[in-house]
Amino acid sequence: MSRNPRYDILFEPVRIGPVTAPNRFYCAPHALGTGNQMPHTRAAMREVRAEGGWGVVNTGYCSIHPSSDDSPLPYCRLWDDEDIKVHALMVDAVHRHGALAGVELWHGGSGTGNRLTRMSLISASGISSGSTYPGWMNLAQSRPMDKQDIREFRRWHVDAAIRARSAGFDIVYIYAGMNFGPYQFLLPWMNKRTDEYGGSLENRTRLMREIVEDMKEAVGQTCAIALRFSTDDLLKIPGETMQSEAHEIVSMLSDVPDLWDVKSSSWVVETRSARFSEQGAQEHLVSFVRPLTSKPVVGVGRFTSPDEMVRQIKSGILDLIGAARPSIADPFLPRKIDEGREDEIRECIGCNICVSSYHDGVPLRCTQNPTMGEEWRRKWHPERIPPGDPETSVLIVGAGPAGLECALALGQRGFAVTVAEAREELGGRVSIESKLPGLATWARVRDYRTNLIQTMANVDVYRGSPLTAQDVIDFGCDHAVIATGAQWTREILSTNGYPFDGIEASAVFTPDDILSGSEPEGPVVIYDFDHYYMGSCLAELLTQRGLEVTIATPANAVSAWTFMNNEMGDIRRRMIELDITTVFEHYLTGFDQGTVRLASIYRESDVKSINCGSLIVVGIRTGNDGLYQELKSDTDRITDAGIISVRSIGDCRAPGAIVHAVYSGHECARTIDAGDTIQPIAWERARLLSGT
Ligand SMILES: Cc1cc2nc3c(=O)[nH]c(=O)nc-3n(C[C@H](O)[C@H](O)[C@H](O)COP(=O)(O)O)c2cc1C
Ligand code: SF4
Repeated sequence: MSRNPRYDILFEPVRIGPVTAPNRFYCAPHALGTGNQMPHTRAAMREVRAEGGWGVVNTGYCSIHPSSDDSPLPYCRLWDDEDIKVHALMVDAVHRHGALAGVELWHGGSGTGNRLTRMSLISASGISSGSTYPGWMNLAQSRPMDKQDIREFRRWHVDAAIRARSAGFDIVYIYAGMNFGPYQFLLPWMNKRTDEYGGSLENRTRLMREIVEDMKEAVGQTCAIALRFSTDDLLKIPGETMQSEAHEIVSMLSDVPDLWDVKSSSWVVETRSARFSEQGAQEHLVSFVRPLTSKPVVGVGRFTSPDEMVRQIKSGILDLIGAARPSIADPFLPRKIDEGREDEIRECIGCNICVSSYHDGVPLRCTQNPTMGEEWRRKWHPERIPPGDPETSVLIVGAGPAGLECALALGQRGFAVTVAEAREELGGRVSIESKLPGLATWARVRDYRTNLIQTMANVDVYRGSPLTAQDVIDFGCDHAVIATGAQWTREILSTNGYPFDGIEASAVFTPDDILSGSEPEGPVVIYDFDHYYMGSCLAELLTQRGLEVTIATPANAVSAWTFMNNEMGDIRRRMIELDITTVFEHYLTGFDQGTVRLASIYRESDVKSINCGSLIVVGIRTGNDGLYQELKSDTDRITDAGIISVRSIGDCRAPGAIVHAVYSGHECARTIDAGDTIQPIAWERARLLSGT
């Protein structure tokens, strides 16, 4: 297949200072969860993007000096020459595929913690940053930078830029966004200085300008100097001669950097999930920049549609299409567009599991892309998979996320695959849950896989086909894979997590009941100790149906886990907007005669009673593993039927998020012919390079 001429513009080269990007696909700076500690994992994670056609591949935030230490979050660093080889490994990997490699040099100012290095924090005026955001709370305040500090700050940037050039980078960033060091100088409420670095906008911009100019002088002959700049705060400050200070800064610096990379100053806003934002949601933050500079402009916005990318370029908003999550979900997105295979793009669903894994401090995981983070240690490539034996047959029972991923990967390996799904609709939980408010994109987990599976001659799919153990045995396959999902239970737990007697009143519902059409009587109390999206999504759904809803939870927030994927604030705001009552830090002690009883997790004698028509318990799921257990318990019949292995995967094996199900399905497909039904840990340990 060949490229649709409509998308030719995306493949035009773009000059960036002294270097040229081969196309407009720009993998924006984003952390991988590896830091410098896993150099090979990191290099392989970046390499697949270059191989997949991204014209520029950047690092995540890379500290220039020990006074900017983000431990325990996984950031990378270029503190001294020992750090160069870690980066060179990645640069070489990116260059192997003709892409440019960029490094985002970063100093956090007072927006970091220095928990490891224990150096005092420095900032424009000693004002703390981000201290109201719980995860970033830091007991240490910063000290104002004196002139010596400012000279050092500039020198650290230059030293790091020189090291970056030694590592082979083509693009070197100064990061003046997201409340980090240089950005703090721009904001009048962070910068109270009375010297030439404070006061007027020109003075507040001075440090940023000097650093760009210093870096240009030091490495600008060979490396492009990019400026990552946040605009949302500055757009709100009226300018003296222009609409806002953001406009004035861009026009003052106009052609000083070789590239403008523009985004929100908020980690939560820039990575807003699909539940709360559309593709291109940051357009208003960047659209004013292009007319004020002749240098290329890059912006982000969960871009997965090539038509939208073309629109961004043709309407003069962007020159380069920046992407973090879309490149994680599909490292081969550009290549697929180039080859006229845009139907095969594995579109990001905007769930932010990747963000949560960065917060977890592990290599990024992705719901859509199970190979993410496994490129090096398990040698899993996002587009290539070792062939299997076409004579070997596999029966998969269940076509949810695990079953579909397993079927797709087995089909790609060339096995003879049959999928039997009990329901008429494929997709299992993603088909059901994507009907919840805000979760429509989750259907992409199903659609990406069914679109490809339907083209495969070696994969047959049967809908409306519930199978018994006898059916599986009679079918006569070499391998049986049971992917029958999980169901929500009515079990509740005590505060300490100990099992508590289940509640079996008729007006008690599970999410499955509601999602399969049960109509609870209002008012409704949702008791949520699952802490992810389900409780708050059901609250939204039932409020839309006109019911009065209360969410009670033993946690201190609605959907408390979503602190990890940056959705917590948006969920809280939505609950407030919808007038949903919240009761925090209480556990359920009983429900009868229209009353829910709750007790404080801190003092049992503090009890609450809420009158309600129905109670929905959102807490525990249990795998639908009856079929699997029955097959496993009858080894003789299995052996007689010639079945070599029976495995369970996904939620049936151990309930989790969709990311776990997809991964489990993929792992099964990769290892089905390896002989073991339970895989030992089979991966290569991260090897340190000296300096990591
Ligand atoms: C897991 C993850 C890590 C990120 N790390 C960084 C980072 O180190 N530096 C940075 O400037 N932006 C970082 N970002 C923000 C992205 O560069 C980008 O601005 C944001 O994700 C929006 O782009 P997208 O919609 O294409 O994902 C990160 C984003 C994600 C999802
Ligand atoms: S984890 Fe979710 S948000 Fe992140 S890249 Fe994958 S699909 Fe997109």
